[in-house]
Amino acid sequence: MGKMRTQSAPWRAAAVLASVLLVGGVAACGNSDTGGGGTKDDGKITMGFSQVGAESGWRTANTTSIKESAAAAGVELKFDDAQQKQENQIKAIRNYIQQKVDVIAFSPVVESGWDTVLKEAKDAKIPVILTDRSVDSADKTLYKTFLGSDFVKEGKLAGEWLVEQKKSATGTVNIVELQGNTGAAPANDRKKGFGEAIAANPNLKIIASQPGDFTRAGGKQVMEQFLKANPKIDVLFAHNDDMGLGALEAITAAGKVPGKDITIITVDAVKDGMQALADGKFNFIAECSPLLGPQLMDLAKKVHAGEEVPPRIETEETTFTTEQAKEALPNRKY
Ligand code: AHR
Repeated sequence: MGKMRTQSAPWRAAAVLASVLLVGGVAACGNSDTGGGGTKDDGKITMGFSQVGAESGWRTANTTSIKESAAAAGVELKFDDAQQKQENQIKAIRNYIQQKVDVIAFSPVVESGWDTVLKEAKDAKIPVILTDRSVDSADKTLYKTFLGSDFVKEGKLAGEWLVEQKKSATGTVNIVELQGNTGAAPANDRKKGFGEAIAANPNLKIIASQPGDFTRAGGKQVMEQFLKANPKIDVLFAHNDDMGLGALEAITAAGKVPGKDITIITVDAVKDGMQALADGKFNFIAECSPLLGPQLMDLAKKVHAGEEVPPRIETEETTFTTEQAKEALPNRKY
């Protein structure tokens, strides 16, 4: 012990130098050249994830799925909530590039305006995975794959159900539409799919269509305006359950019976939406699954390892009527 304390100055300097070199060496070894260099010596890959926000029950379930799956897959997750703002997502992605994460994944709040930041990620050799929502970039090499739903199909399924329900309707069927946030892929695509499905039936008429930003508050507020401006509303198509749930309050407050006076069709099939459907307040839901985490982690590992992955992976989904919702509700996880 005494000897240790009385080491000579040159010996102490050599020991310090050796430990600095050792630490530096370990840090350098931790860098990976397939990704941005974030892989550590514990073999974990690092994912930077930029989430849209926390606007809906769907989004909460999606965030939970991603966090739980990352932990289960041994992926170190850096998570950012963009609060529905594109500029926050761009900032988060630039941060992840600076931090040299191995993989960047994000759910783009809107479809357009990503080329510059995606090019920056590509130049830094960090693979990008789009999840839930896509971008409209012409250059498909800016990202490795897009994992998520077919939103056009969801809108189409909603429209086809309505066409079938109203096939013997005589007069005009007045439809109001609650859209998601302006410029978002699910808002654009669900509108498109629904419009196409009802197009051949001129008596099915969309009399008003406004964004409710995928939130309950937005759905309630816009539905109040719809009800004030339009004395006869027969159908509501809401681009998600949350806006439909908000609209229920406005409809009830206006003295109408949701699900009877006004037929309500939504998208998602989260628990609260399924409960409204089982209770007969909603009439039909096209499912959109938020449980993307396990597939996302799998893809992250593959792209990091330099493996080829399909450019598009579509989520499997179904639709629900009241009877089907009653059956599915007890086992609904989110
Ligand atoms: O992108 C998926 C959509 O975003 C969900 O339908 C909606 O609930 C969410 O906010």
